Amino acid sequence: VRAAASDAATAAAKKLLIKHVTIIGGGLMGAGIAQVAAASGHTVVLVDQSDEILKKSTKGIEESLKRVTKKKFADQPEAGVEFIKKTLKNLTTSTDAASVVHSTDLVIEAIVENLEVKNELFKTLDKFAPEHTIFASNTSSLQITKMANATTRQDRFGGLHFFNPVPMMKLVEVIRTPMTSQKTFESLMDFSKAVGKSPVSCKDTPGFIVNRLLVPYMMEAVRLFERGDASKEDIDVAMKLGAGYPMGPFELLDYVGLDTSKYIIDGWHSLEPNNPLFAPSPLLNKLVEEKKLGKKTGEGFYKYK
Ligand code: NAI
Repeated sequence: VRAAASDAATAAAKKLLIKHVTIIGGGLMGAGIAQVAAASGHTVVLVDQSDEILKKSTKGIEESLKRVTKKKFADQPEAGVEFIKKTLKNLTTSTDAASVVHSTDLVIEAIVENLEVKNELFKTLDKFAPEHTIFASNTSSLQITKMANATTRQDRFGGLHFFNPVPMMKLVEVIRTPMTSQKTFESLMDFSKAVGKSPVSCKDTPGFIVNRLLVPYMMEAVRLFERGDASKEDIDVAMKLGAGYPMGPFELLDYVGLDTSKYIIDGWHSLEPNNPLFAPSPLLNKLVEEKKLGKKTGEGFYKYK
């Protein structure tokens, strides 16, 4: 027991205190992660492909901060203004990832969900980032191990899976591959807490915890509907009123995006073709083919104005 306690103490003593964070990808997720990291006092650089995209990201962050502040500082508007000012002061943007990672403690990647593109990015950054820098991916469905293997820092590589919308959702899944060091893992857990989230840890398995349970559940709802066992409206009502879920599975599918769900299930199906939980759905495939992708296109399982 004493030896284990002393090992834990040594690992804790060696943990990296993450102060400077570089976030690559200023889309839905990257902007949210940049916001919570800057709001919690980290120095943040947000990187994307053009100044135009970054301008949009920054505007989105400002608007989201106003919403957060309205709630958080309802009785102290001046403190709210100060909070926004301080947060934005911690945040800068860049279109050149290689030139900004030289002094960063942590790189969080939140770019397009494509393994080749992600690997190319990590391979490049591996050459420019200092030795101590930890790399993390926010991927929902790709293997962290495959990305770690594109670099020479497999022990300083892990997954940090945030949830949408990042400022609201309290969970972060911290993913350790067989190569992730204890120091890296603990540093990522600490960082997640420092940005105000509740981290859980998971091995590098398809879907980690939440999506591994959620995606097959949504697919099973589609199959129930496809067989004509119940209407989609009734399935949604049933899960809201009977299971206490805030959204039904079809509402959730439309919210997440049908293309995203199809991409995830197709990826898992190719990994485990005999797993019935990962079987593709003809109806989902048809809707995606018709570009009915959910809320974002105005129609998915439901129509939106
Ligand atoms: P998004 O499409 O909103 O944003 C991606 C951003 O990355 C875009 O602004 C794009 O210009 C930029 N980008 C693409 N390639 C780049 C490169 N080489 N260098 C710099 N910037 C680049 O995507 P979203 O939804 O934010 O997803 C990002 C990642 O987060 C994906 O891996 C996704 O699987 C994951 N994720 C998404 C969630 C969601 O609900 N949307 C939830 C959790 C994880």
